[in-house]
Amino acid sequence: MRRSAAESAPSKPSSGRSSKSPPVNAKKEYLALLAELDRRHRHNQLAAYKPYERQAEFHAAGAVNRERLFMAGNQLGKTRAGGAEWAMHLTGRYPQWWQGKVFDTAVRLWAAGVTGEGTRDNPQRVLVGPPQQQSAWGTGMIPGDAIVDTIMGRGAPGALDSVVVRHGGGGDVQSGESVLSFKSFEKGREKWQGETLHGVWFDEEPPLDIYSEGLTRTNATGGITIVTFTPLLGMSDVVMLFLSAGEVERMGKG
Ligand SMILES: Nc1ncnc2c1ncn2[C@@H]1O[C@H](COP(=O)(O)OP(=O)(O)OP(=O)(O)O)[C@@H](O)[C@H]1O
Ligand SMILES: [Mg+2]
Repeated sequence: MRRSAAESAPSKPSSGRSSKSPPVNAKKEYLALLAELDRRHRHNQLAAYKPYERQAEFHAAGAVNRERLFMAGNQLGKTRAGGAEWAMHLTGRYPQWWQGKVFDTAVRLWAAGVTGEGTRDNPQRVLVGPPQQQSAWGTGMIPGDAIVDTIMGRGAPGALDSVVVRHGGGGDVQSGESVLSFKSFEKGREKWQGETLHGVWFDEEPPLDIYSEGLTRTNATGGITIVTFTPLLGMSDVVMLFLSAGEVERMGKG
């Protein structure tokens, strides 16, 4: 382990320096170390992620359910939870406390919102960093050191088409490359056909045909879908898929 500059500052009495004023070089080294710590912290939001109770329940449910819905009010951490989980699957860096779904290979994932702008400003921002500041890409949930490549989209300014992410490579996890692509519901079902995926994240409520298409993409891998949103449209088709007959009946009465 590296020792701090303060610890390694010279202490020979023959140097003639006062112990109250460390040499300029040691001060510089110390400041550089602080800056490096700050940079690492900002570049590793994933390691710093501590889920709230409902977020933890949502993650844990992934161990046994292929399809999950995190339906909650505004600003309760839906997008952050989705982003943290996606960053774990992409990198293979699952924290000690993790009880949710685990993929043991590199993955292909999608993250989607209603429009290109919405996808850029929510999942992309949380996963990669502020869309308008390319120099800050790598400060989102996907650690900067795991981003191999970013491929620009052809739609909204600053919107990415996809991100190539380094997977594994530490301990006994074999290294590989995961690919995350950004999609939007507005493009319609045709754009949702084709690829085989390990997971699809809907960061808003999707129309039923888009949801089904996304789910179908994950069938061959036994993959997962997550839906994170605040219900504004009442009980839609997609929400109904997640409710039991008893729950629907109770809602009808009440
Ligand atoms: N586990 C957590 N620890 C610390 N901060 C958190 C956590 N979860 C969410 N937050 C913070 O709470 C705020 C709201 O989070 P987020 O954007 O994920 O919520 P949301 O439910 O998606 O909001 P919206 O309803 O606007 O879509 C953000 O500032 C986010 O960083
Ligand atoms: Mg959100």
